[in-house]
Parts: sequence; C-alpha cells; structure tokens
Amino acid sequence: MDANTMIRGQGVLITGASRGLGRALAEQLAAKGARVALVARDAGPLHEVVAEIRARGGIAHAVTGDVGDKEAIHKIAGQAQGLVGEIGIAIHNASTLGPTPLRLLLDTECEDLAAVLETNLVGPFRLTKILAGAMALRGAGVVVHLSSDAAIEPYPRWGAYGVSKAAQDQLSRILAAELEGTGVRILAVDPGEMDTVMHAAAMPEADPTSLQRPSEVARRIIAMIEHPERAPSGARLAAPQWEAVS
Ligand SMILES: NC(=O)c1ccc[n+]([C@@H]2O[C@H](COP(=O)([O-])OP(=O)(O)OC[C@H]3O[C@@H](n4cnc5c(N)ncnc54)[C@H](OP(=O)(O)O)[C@@H]3O)[C@@H](O)[C@H]2O)c1
Repeated sequence: MDANTMIRGQGVLITGASRGLGRALAEQLAAKGARVALVARDAGPLHEVVAEIRARGGIAHAVTGDVGDKEAIHKIAGQAQGLVGEIGIAIHNASTLGPTPLRLLLDTECEDLAAVLETNLVGPFRLTKILAGAMALRGAGVVVHLSSDAAIEPYPRWGAYGVSKAAQDQLSRILAAELEGTGVRILAVDPGEMDTVMHAAAMPEADPTSLQRPSEVARRIIAMIEHPERAPSGARLAAPQWEAVS
C-alpha cells in the first residue's frame, strides 16, 4: 500500500477530535481523502469542527461520547463504523490530566487515579478490542496511541497522567508483539509540547509561542502512518524528532 492509499478512502476514528491535536489530525486526514469519525464529549465544538471540514469538501461525522465510560464504548465504535465504514485507522488521542492544578501522587485520590486510567488506558484498550479483530481479518490497520514524555520522566505532580501514559506505552508494545504478522500496526507517539487547552491547564505559566502548533505535530503523525518502513509496529516515536530522520 503506498502513502496515498494508506489514507485516501480509509475509515478513521479519532478520539478527542474537537480541539487541539485531535482536531488538527481530523482536518488533515479528511483533506487527504479519509472518512473521519470525530469523537468527543461536548457536542457543540465537535459539530463545529465537522461543519468546517465538510465546508472544505471533507467527509467527517461527529460521534459524541466519553471514552472513559465503559457503557459508551460500543456505542462510540458502532456509530463510527456506521458513519464512516470499516475503521482502518484508530487514533487514541483523547486524554485527561486528572484534577488540576496537578498534585503530588500521595495527595491524589485513588478514585482520581482510577478515573485517569479509565480514560487514558482502559478506554483506548476497550476500543482497540472492538476494532483490531476486524483489522486483522482484513490484514491491514493502524492504531495510534498518543503518549507523552511524562510516560518516561518521573515529573513530580504528573503522577496519575504519567502512570497512565507509561501503561499505555506498554499496552502498545505488547499489542504490537501479539499482532505481529497480521498487518495491524500499533504505534505510540509522544507529540511533544503543544499549545493546547491541555497544556494551558497543566502549565498555565508557559509561553504559548515556545510550544509547537498542533497542526505541525499532526502533519508528522500522519507521515508516520504513511511510512510503515520508518514507523514499524511496536515503535514509540517522538514527533519533535521525526523531521530529523526524514
Ligand atoms: N498538549 C501537550 O503539550 C501534550 C504533550 C504530550 C502529550 N499530549 C497528548 O496529546 C493528546 C492530545 O492532547 P491535546 O493537548 O490536544 O488535548 P486537548 O486540547 O485538551 O483536547 C482534548 C480532546 O479530547 C477530548 N476529550 C477529553 N476527554 C475525553 C473523553 N473522556 N472522551 C472523549 N473525548 C475526550 C476533548 O473534548 P471534550 O472535552 O469535549 O470531550 C478534546 O477534544 C493527549 O493524549 C495528550 O495526553 C499532549
């Protein structure tokens, strides 16, 4: 499959697509001819993004739902498949920091840690369980997990989020090992620091002009999807370093 057919005509599910990186990915993938299902909890901003993509000639549909809600997952996957067809590319981008301001791990409520894991780890796992079997039967598919440097570095106060992202990295690697030879590619991508709502919530003192634009990062992640030889299954890739090896 060449880079064009990797995206054009594909059914794509992107969680957290109403703003930030997810929105940029949805816009760029639709511009490349994918049929995109955009997932988020708040319907208003989601429908605005869908309308903008359609106005530019793209194929996009809104799916309202909470990826951290066990009861919502089959509905999210079913609606997405009904609207855009078989999902060839799933991007687990929605994520939560947990309560902000961020707090020390020992000051974190167990319920808050569990809620972060539901949204950032278990929800994506549930969605992949629904979607990856069909990908394997078709012999093709890409699953992307959005990671973070907090998965690797033990930043004080980033505990619940960092734990969830570290676990998701390992989920990604183990799924890749188990799906080897099926044609399903599993990636983990650290996007690097971006000027988004999430970054502002975590680090309100940061200078936005020092941060990457989500659109730049989305372009690199799409290049990873398009180039399996440089982004093989099981890889953990850092978007800021991607250009350097291209
Ligand atoms: N920004 C950074 O500097 C940075 C750095 C490293 C890694 N990352 C990772 O990159 C990804 C994108 O981050 P971002 O900064 O673009 O985030 P963002 O601006 O906060 O956007 C988050 C998106 O996810 C949706 N969302 C949140 N919780 C959800 C849930 N439970 N179910 C469904 N949708 C949900 C939000 O819409 P609703 O609120 O309407 O649901 C929104 O569309 C995340 O995985 C993040 O951890 C970001």
